[in-house]
Amino acid sequence: MQPSKHRTSRRSFLRKGLVVGGAGTLGAGLLAGGLPAFVEASGGLTKGDVAILRFLSTAEILETDFWQQYNELGGIQDSEVPGGSGSAAYTAALQVLDEDMPQYIHDNTEDEFTHFTFINAYLVAKGADPVNLDKFRTLPSSKATGAQQIGRLTNLMQLTVDTSYWTKYRSRTQNPDFGDTFPPAVPGLLKGQFPAIPRDDNDLAPANHIQAIANTAGFHFAFIEQGGTSLYPSLAQRVTHPEVLRILLSIGPTETAHFQTWLDKAGNAPALTDPTNGLVFPDLNSPPFGGEDFQTNLIMPEPTIFLSRKFPPVSIIRPTETEGAAMGAAKALTADGLFVGQSKEFFAVLHELAEQADAARRG
Ligand SMILES: [Fe+2]
Ligand SMILES: [Fe+2]
Repeated sequence: MQPSKHRTSRRSFLRKGLVVGGAGTLGAGLLAGGLPAFVEASGGLTKGDVAILRFLSTAEILETDFWQQYNELGGIQDSEVPGGSGSAAYTAALQVLDEDMPQYIHDNTEDEFTHFTFINAYLVAKGADPVNLDKFRTLPSSKATGAQQIGRLTNLMQLTVDTSYWTKYRSRTQNPDFGDTFPPAVPGLLKGQFPAIPRDDNDLAPANHIQAIANTAGFHFAFIEQGGTSLYPSLAQRVTHPEVLRILLSIGPTETAHFQTWLDKAGNAPALTDPTNGLVFPDLNSPPFGGEDFQTNLIMPEPTIFLSRKFPPVSIIRPTETEGAAMGAAKALTADGLFVGQSKEFFAVLHELAEQADAARRG
């Protein structure tokens, strides 16, 4: 990771990222003075491409932060993904969804680490500033045995998980890009704040409580990765340089690979009620659930409307609207509860990075 820049003010932190090729070829004033977006600065990237890459790096750093927390307690701790020593009870509850859950958690975590590390290295190679969020690593770790005690960017202990992705990908007649909304598969997860990792060792029992925590994680994994699945194609529509497009088109589908896996595993989460807080995981294969909207073995996207209702239904990623896509992602992660406890400055930085990405135009 990059060394932290505690003494850098927020304004300069943000502004530096917008100045491509700081070697003096183009100053900030000149860039701001109305050069068309497609003008190549040194390194060959437009400021829009830099802004999109910087937002994606931000999203990947945030993903890495919480995937590491999952891996410390429920994944495989090894040289590829170091940190933590595992929680046996939490890991066992995750393995109810699939015995290979620790491997999948490990691999997803490693992928996220490589995503932001690559994007930051690419930005540096092009003379642009990488993203560094180290100053915001202020949130507490889980106190459960197995977790590292370090500052975190994200909070997995007060999540409000939106599981409407479940029905969104099964609808044959609706699409979020047409303004449609979708019912959640687990309504209870939208009605409170729930831990997706044990907060401490008191959360390891009773059995239906730690299983509810593992179930929450299982549905959260798919929530996160369906977001990445949409974010990359949404932003790819506004990049300029073919190589930046290649980066987005090459990373984005790995998010989809994750999503497909997690959608399958979430379907194995056992129906139960958490005795400590009343959170219900319904049987998705029985009334009032069941059928094409909820049946758990329907893990591939159903075809639906795309671009215009005059076209035939098509199996697609959804949404992929590009306008406002970065801010949409920032808002979805915030509504998910991942940043509960973060500072005003954190949100200001996140929103400015999103605004800059959404201001990018294809040259
Ligand atoms: Fe990623
Ligand atoms: Fe991801």
